[in-house]
This record gives sequence, structure tokens and C-alpha cells, in this order.
Amino acid sequence: MFNEEIWNQKTLLKVVMKPRIEYVYASALLISILQIVIYFTNLECEVEGWGKESIRNISLYISDVNAQIFPKDFCQAYSMLLIVVCSAPANTNARQAVRETWGSQKTVLGERIELVFLMGKALEPSVQGAILAESQQFNDIIQEDFTDSYYNLTLKSTLMLKLASSNCMDMSRFLFKIDDDMFVNIPKLMRLLIERNNSENVLLGKMMCRTQPIKDPTSKWYCPAYMFNNTYFPNFLSGTGYLMSLDVTKKLYNAALTIPLIHLEDVYITGMCAKNAGIVPETVFEFSTGYFEDESCELKNLITIHYFTPDRMRQTFQTLNKPGSFEKCHEPIFKPTAWLRTTLFLPLARSRRKRIC
Ligand SMILES: *[C@@H]1O[C@H](CO)[C@@H](O)[C@H](O)[C@H]1NC(C)=O
Ligand SMILES: *[C@@H]1O[C@H](CO)[C@@H](O)[C@H](O)[C@H]1NC(C)=O
Ligand SMILES: *[C@@H]1O[C@H](CO)[C@@H](O)[C@H](O)[C@H]1NC(C)=O
Ligand SMILES: *[C@@H]1O[C@H](CO)[C@@H](O)[C@H](O)[C@H]1NC(C)=O
Repeated sequence: MFNEEIWNQKTLLKVVMKPRIEYVYASALLISILQIVIYFTNLECEVEGWGKESIRNISLYISDVNAQIFPKDFCQAYSMLLIVVCSAPANTNARQAVRETWGSQKTVLGERIELVFLMGKALEPSVQGAILAESQQFNDIIQEDFTDSYYNLTLKSTLMLKLASSNCMDMSRFLFKIDDDMFVNIPKLMRLLIERNNSENVLLGKMMCRTQPIKDPTSKWYCPAYMFNNTYFPNFLSGTGYLMSLDVTKKLYNAALTIPLIHLEDVYITGMCAKNAGIVPETVFEFSTGYFEDESCELKNLITIHYFTPDRMRQTFQTLNKPGSFEKCHEPIFKPTAWLRTTLFLPLARSRRKRIC
């Protein structure tokens, strides 16, 4: 009796499970075959909004575009640093976190800082209405007349170059493009700029070396050959945050007018346009695109860190502003992984990067 019951359960399991497992195998096989076919036939998918036939002459998209919303006093007073936070219309919470945290620092080491948020238009009328109210309250929003979307980020960054080179040339020395989920160590950044004492031909951030276009159509960074037809991208700076002197904004903008756009904003601006304009991007170790568990200690040495939710941004800023916030970071607790990272992997990675780039 007892055994028979177990046997029955087993058969039942087999009968129920078996066909399902076969389905899994079959679909896995089908997907692999499809991938192989796509690989060998070089079947090209198109990029959303930028199909094979679309015109990629950027002046067509931005020459007549003017800001719909604009801070009253934008670039009216001299500032050493103009920060442009690229944001999407719906990211109200992220913008508020930036305003309350690192973006609240308006004068650092005696130098004035100006900060604006840059976005395109929202398709939803309710979001659009909220942006209008937000801009009236904070007077720090620039909204350009194009549809804000991931595949239009190149338009956003090129419009940033246009704005800065037509409004801020003598009013600012540096422009810092940054995303709204980044944390910026402003005092450290200002110290770097002051110590370097150079405001010509500056283009710096985190270098991406010898990157290849991604051919997988499901990837966010998919880049078909009709967009870019070379094995490697020119070395470029990660779009999460890059900094340039104001003369460079003008040079990059002029270059953009002659180069067919690709939807990968950082590759286009800091790689292709920079190369065309004869500007050499520079990698600065303190510009990180990483995620760290113990971010407030990492910020002792770094200028940018990535992947911040608004809450974590507020927390980190609070921790940093406590007196002696870095003291706890010196505790001589021996962590083998941290030790390996700082004594072996980081120097190795740095020397390798120097060799390749
Ligand atoms: C990019 O912006 C243009 C101009 O507003 C718009 O026509 C187009 O649909 C947008 N593309 C995407 C992919 O959103
Ligand atoms: C900065 O550079 C200028 C000329 O390039 C020089 O005259 C000036 O003394 C420098 N300032 C500092 C603080 O090094
Ligand atoms: C890519 O370049 C090769 C050689 O330069 C050329 O034959 C080919 O037609 C190009 N493909 C596209 C899609 O532009
Ligand atoms: C792009 O369009 C503008 C204006 O229509 C034109 O003056 C320019 O020559 C075009 N550029 C290229 C590279 O085709």
C-alpha cells in the first residue's frame, strides 16, 4: 500500500513534469538556432527611432530647436563650473534628491557653481504640467523641444553643447555633464579643477577603451553597422559624467554638425566628435561609474559614483557631512578582498588602461 502510493506519486510527477522539461529544451534549442541564424546572416535589426533610412544629420534635429523652459538667470553671472544634470521628465524625485544633497553646494572653495537640469518634452500631459510647476518653483530646469527618450539622448547632449556655447562662453570655465543617479563629490572636483589650473582643451571622465559595438539587438546599447561601421569605437568617456572646458563645448558642437549621429550619446560626443575636433579625452581615476557598498568611504577618494536611488543619495550626503565622517574608514580592519583590490587589481587595471589607451 505504502510503496504503491509513493510509486503513484512518482509516476504522477513524471507524467506532469516531463512534457514541461521538453518544452524548456525545445525553446532553448529554438532560441539558440535563431541566434546562430541572426549571427551568420548578419540580419540587422533597426534602432528605435533611428532606422536604416532615417537621416542622421544632427543639424536637422537641433538647428531650430529652442528651449521651451529656461531659468531666468541662466549663465548671467560668472561661475567656475556649470553642471548640467541630464534628467528625464518623470524623474522628479531624483532631481529633488540632487537639489537637497550634492547639488545644494553653490559656492565651494570660493568659486560659484551653477546647476541646471536638462530634459526634453514628456509625452504625458500630466508630467508636462508638473515640469512647468517644478520649474517655476526652483528656476533650474531647461526643457528643450524634442521628445525625451533613451534613443534621443544624443539630441539632449548636443543641445547641451549648443546651449553652453551660445550662452555661457565667457560666463563659465567648465561644463560638467552628469546623470541624475550619480553622486558627485563637489569639493574634491573643485579642488581638482583649481589644482590643474587649465581651462583649455579639457575633456575628462572615465575612459572606455577599445569598446566594440554591441551586435545583440536585445541590448540597450545595440549598435548596428548602418550606425557605426568599424570594429572599435574611438575611445570615449562614460556618459554617466564627463567634464569639459567651455572652448571644448564649442569645438564638439561644431564637429557634431558634420558627423552623422549615433544614438549612443557618450560614444558620439566624447569619442567621435572629440576625435574629429582633435580633442583627446583623458581618463581620471576619481571618476568612477561603479557601485560600492560602502559609498561614503569610497567618496573619500572618488569624485563620482553611480547607481544612486534618491534615498541613498540623501543618506550618503548626510554621512559625508558628519564631522569626521572619514575617520571610521581608517579603522585598521584587515579585509583580504579590499587589500587585494587596492594593492593588486587597481594598480594592474590602471597600468593596463594606460597601455591600451
Ligand atoms: C526623438 O525626438 C524627435 C523630435 O521630438 C521625435 O520626433 C522622435 O520620435 C524622438 N525619437 C524617439 C525614439 O523617441
Ligand atoms: C594658472 O595659470 C596661469 C597661466 O596659465 C598662471 O598665470 C597662474 O599663476 C596659475 N595659477 C596658479 C594658482 O597656479
Ligand atoms: C562597411 O564598410 C565596408 C568597407 O569599408 C563596406 O563595404 C560596407 O558596405 C559598409 N557597410 C555599411 C552598412 O555601411
Ligand atoms: C546637414 O544639414 C544642413 C542643413 O540642412 C546642411 O547645411 C549640411 O550640409 C548637412 N550636413 C551634412 C554632413 O550632410
